[in-house]
Order: sequence, then C-alpha cells, then structure tokens
Amino acid sequence: MTATATTVRGLLIGGEWRHGEGEPLERFNPARPSESVVRLVAATADDVRAAYDAAAEAAPGWRRTPGPARGEILFRAAALLAARADAVGEELSREEGKTLPEGRGEVLRAVQILRWFAGEASQPVGDVLPSANATTFLWSERVPLGVVTVITPWNFPVAIPVWKLAPALAFGNTVVWKPSELTPLCAIRVAEVLSEAGLPPGVLNVVHGLPAAIGDAVTGDERIRALTFTGSTATGRAIQQAVVGRGVKTQLELGGKNPVIVLDDADLDQAVEQTLRGAMWSTGQKCTATSRALVLPGIRAAFSERLAERAAALRVGDPLAEGTQIGPVVSQPQQQKVLGYLDVAADEGHALLAGGRAAQPAGDGWFVSPTVYGDVDPASRLGQEEVFGPVVGIIPVDSLEEAVTVANGTPYGLSASIFTRDIARAFAFVREVEAGMVHVNSETAGAEPQAPFGGTKSSSSGSREQGKAAVAFFTESKTVYLDMPAGG
Ligand code: UN1
Repeated sequence: MTATATTVRGLLIGGEWRHGEGEPLERFNPARPSESVVRLVAATADDVRAAYDAAAEAAPGWRRTPGPARGEILFRAAALLAARADAVGEELSREEGKTLPEGRGEVLRAVQILRWFAGEASQPVGDVLPSANATTFLWSERVPLGVVTVITPWNFPVAIPVWKLAPALAFGNTVVWKPSELTPLCAIRVAEVLSEAGLPPGVLNVVHGLPAAIGDAVTGDERIRALTFTGSTATGRAIQQAVVGRGVKTQLELGGKNPVIVLDDADLDQAVEQTLRGAMWSTGQKCTATSRALVLPGIRAAFSERLAERAAALRVGDPLAEGTQIGPVVSQPQQQKVLGYLDVAADEGHALLAGGRAAQPAGDGWFVSPTVYGDVDPASRLGQEEVFGPVVGIIPVDSLEEAVTVANGTPYGLSASIFTRDIARAFAFVREVEAGMVHVNSETAGAEPQAPFGGTKSSSSGSREQGKAAVAFFTESKTVYLDMPAGG
C-alpha cells in the first residue's frame, strides 16, 4: 500500500459522490502489485438500499424524458469520454493490466457504443398494427422497465459497462450498477462522464464492494425489474437463481470455450495470426477468447509450429511500456487459477509447445507466459473448461464433420471461427456449429455494437446484448387498443 494514495469518493448515489459505510477497498496494479491504483470505501447493504431508493425515485422523471433528450446526454458522454481516451485508457491499463493500445482501444470502443445507443434513443419504438375492427387504432410501443441492476466484470472494465448502461439509459431505465471490485477506478471514470454529461441525479447509481458483503443487497431489492450480468457461468447462474423467484428479467453473458477450425486449405498466416490474437490478446481474458484450435492433418504440423513460434515471441511485460504485447493477468488468484490449469495440462500429458509457466518480465507482477499445447484430447479438462488466460490447445481432427462434433462438444456455445478458402465448407460450418457468434477467417473475439452479442447453451441465459436485441431486453411492450367514444 502506498502512503500517498488518497481515498476517493467512489459511490454515486442520488447524484452525489460519496464514501460507502463499509470496508476500505484498494486496487493495486497487477503488473506492479505494490503500486496502489485507487482506494475507496466500499458500500454496505444500507448504501445499496440507498442506491435503489435513488434509482426508484428518479425512474418516473427519466421514463418521461423524451428519447431524443436521453440520446443527447449519451452523445455528450461519448464526447467527454473521447476527449479523455488517453487518460482513461492509461488508467485502464494500470488497473486491469491490458496494454496501453488495448486500454485506449477499449475506451474508444465504449465511445462508439455510446454514440450508437445515443442514436437509437431516437429510433421508432413500436408498431402500428391492423386491427380487425375498422375503427380501432391498434399499436404496440416499447416502454422502459424501471429500475435495472447492472453487474459487470473486470476484463473489459469500460466497454462492457457501457454496452449495458448505454441501452439501459437510452431506453429510459434507471440503474444501480455494481462493477467488479477489481476495477473500481474505471467504473468511476465511466460514471463521471455520464453524470457530467447531464444525467439527472439518481438515474445512474454506482455501488462498490465484495460480493460476499453486498451481493445479496444488490440482487435482493424488490424494486429490481431486470438484471444484466457478464461473468462466469457459475456466478451468473447463482445470480439468476437469486432473482428468478421474483420474476426479474435476466440477461446473463457467461463463459466460453471458443474453437477455431483450421481446414487444410486455410491461409496459414491468417489462421495463425488470428488464432494468436484471439487466444492471447487481453492476456486471454475474454469470454470470446480462442481456447481450442481444431486442425486438420494437412496443415497441422505447419500451423502448430508457427503458432508456437509466434506465441513464444510475444513480448510479455509492463502494459504501460512501449512494445509490450501481453500484460499480466488481473490478480494473484487469477494467476493461480491459470497456473493450476497448466498443472492440469501437464498431468493430462498434452504436448507443451510454448510457455507453460509463470512469467516474470517485470518484477513481481501476475504474469503468465503465452502457452500453446498440442495433441489435446477434446474430452480432457483442458479441452473442456474455460481457462481465462493466455492458453490455447491444439486438438487434432481428421475432417470438417469431426471438427464440428468436437466444436459442439462442450457445454459452451459463445463464439466459433473457421479458416478456409472453401465457401461451401464455411457455410456448412456456419449451419452446424452451436455458437451465438460465428466468424469466417477472423478471430473468435470482437463485437460491433449494432450486431447481437451472446452465446447459446451455457454461454448465456438465451438473451442477446447490443444492437436491436438491447431494445428487447431493456424495454417491454405496451399494446394499446384505441377506440372513439360511442357516438363520436
Ligand atoms: C470482445 O470479444 O471483444 O466478457 C468482447 C467478455 C465479453 C466481451 C468480449 N462479454 O469477454
């Protein structure tokens, strides 16, 4: 702990920044764990209740605020965040550990998302329907839900919050947001731009704290109409259980075990580079990260050799240093978890082609070497479980049919890619693969705000985020049958 770190007012409740009444919460730089990034005082259950009080009180006024006016606030927030992209991007790197270009890139992505939903706030909100009765005017409109709970992870501490907050707010809901306790500073920066852009008090409220301390208060409030969560499948399912009995609408974006399929006719460079990006960028800490490469015999030796060579050559180090390609993982427990999987992989006897250990390029940070395994058994733990670190396993397959069976042979179904020049085989893959998002000749990660985002099977609760899918989640329809007074 550095003596100089000041304690910031991290909770936003009813338009005021204040300290919580709970325990101190301090975040350290994962590349230099002795360096404090931010210190604040976490919330108690009473603070969380105050946040819900504020959100409930602000709901009627925000619901009546015209969509275009809500959109104007989001446009202003986008401009403010764009102006701060360098500073916030650097703070993101220091707090979460991704490299500076990735940190800044994430902030600019959040700007894009804010702009997109700012525009959406002026889009049509319903349908006029032909009534069976000639004099009835029949329409259906999308209306806000009310108070929405937003729970976000540390791995995209600016972009994921924005892709939930922007539609929640654009479509007229008020929010209680619980960001990850590992990235409170990024949460504060996001809330600052929204609040400075002119959100009325109470429309957005932010509470920090450990799940053990405030989790029940965050999910237990009777006024919650909908809850959106991104994180692990186990946590997401537990949260869903906590609210389902009260009829709360839920949107869960969960884990992945995303495959790339490399056919014999693939462009080798493209397949290797995109697999590398998908597996290693953000230190593999993406739900959309590539963790399995299913490779056909004709290209397997060349692909394996090249991927291992490229992974071994990646520059691991301080995310703030020029030229670093791979930062640390987010925390010591996360490093232990990933290293635990390397032990599992050693026990399971997969061929180690690159990495396979902790890395110590910059002193005492939580680093893991980019790691590639060959000859991975698809039924092994490494072949089945989400690692959430810079680790990819090559699984030998003999045909596209086998590749599809193996690709579909995990509980997950978030994202999948195929590398091939053969459009017919690419289409066959698109048809058969169980995934919410499919890429042809590009990495498994990445998302555009206008397109639905989400997975099938254990990767989600069946709902989708972003694009028009966000309207469906953050609003409900009101159907109106309008007839004239009798004799009118
Ligand atoms: C991306 O693929 O760029 O938690 C974004 C996650 C996803 C976001 C992935 N919800 O990693």
